[in-house]
Amino acid sequence: MRQPGTTPLHVDLRRYLRETDEDRDLTRVICEIADASKYIINAIRTGDLGMAGTSNLYGEAQLALDVLSDRIIRKRLVHSGVVACIASEESGEVQQIDKDCDHKYSVAYDPLDGSSLVDVNLAVGTIVSIYKGCDVLRPGREQVAAMYILYGPRTTLVYSTGRGVHEFAMNSLMEYTLNHENLRMKPGPAKIYSPGGQRSKWTEGTERFAQELEGSGAKLRYSGGFVPDINQVLIKRNGVFMYPHLQDAPEGKLRVLYELNPMAFLLEQAGGAASTGRGRILDLQPDRIDMRAPIFIGSRESVEQAERCIAEAG
Ligand code: F6P
Ligand code: MN
Repeated sequence: MRQPGTTPLHVDLRRYLRETDEDRDLTRVICEIADASKYIINAIRTGDLGMAGTSNLYGEAQLALDVLSDRIIRKRLVHSGVVACIASEESGEVQQIDKDCDHKYSVAYDPLDGSSLVDVNLAVGTIVSIYKGCDVLRPGREQVAAMYILYGPRTTLVYSTGRGVHEFAMNSLMEYTLNHENLRMKPGPAKIYSPGGQRSKWTEGTERFAQELEGSGAKLRYSGGFVPDINQVLIKRNGVFMYPHLQDAPEGKLRVLYELNPMAFLLEQAGGAASTGRGRILDLQPDRIDMRAPIFIGSRESVEQAERCIAEAG
């Protein structure tokens, strides 16, 4: 097995997973999703935009990009032979593929997060959470792997199996090759911040946190896409993203299973932190698959600062 940090750049994803001794079936799940993403990029680049229910030139029905992305990933997972259960943000239900799930994996995913941003040509992504066994209604700390794919000017894939966070970039042959091994957040407070939700609806604690960030010179960097906003924090190794609880939406907007847990797993693996503002995201016990929660995620010091501001404001 390779020693971390010794892998030459441009090693291909499958080979990297093999050489770092990842479980063969987990490797299969990750590679199926990586392969699916190649078709999703193609749909993003060339497909009709948001035209579900309409027909194309040849009279064929069109699918919206998020529905199509869901089908592309689902088909691969169903036929992989190593997946027991699938929960997708798009379908909103759990699909049981195999009753015998002791040695299989379950996958919760958001096939195309921020799909409405495709119309305005901003970056979007696929987010994936992987568990062992059948159950997906479990605390995020029990994930065995998490990953996302970012469809931006370049396509990148970031994953962790609990042994560091690694970034791969798609090359001209549509292969994912290693770009960053073992991404680690830098110590110190956030110098950039990405705040979601209408500011007039924030609660006092969130407002106080934002004012402290601004007072310390942090710059606003919000794209409106969860995947590119988180990727910015991870690749710059500094920053904080938040989608807080709002006065008229105490649970915020983002979904625990499909969005928060996988990103929290990745950021913690990189030495950052992820909190609801009152506790660790990965310790939440979901009671339904579409559960939402507020999130403050990124540089550890700033996430702790958010918790302090929220606790002080009561
Ligand atoms: O989950 C969908 C999503 O588009 C995320 O990608 C993004 O972080 C968030 O919603 C943006 O929400 P808003 O438009 O309220 O800022
Ligand atoms: Mn989403």
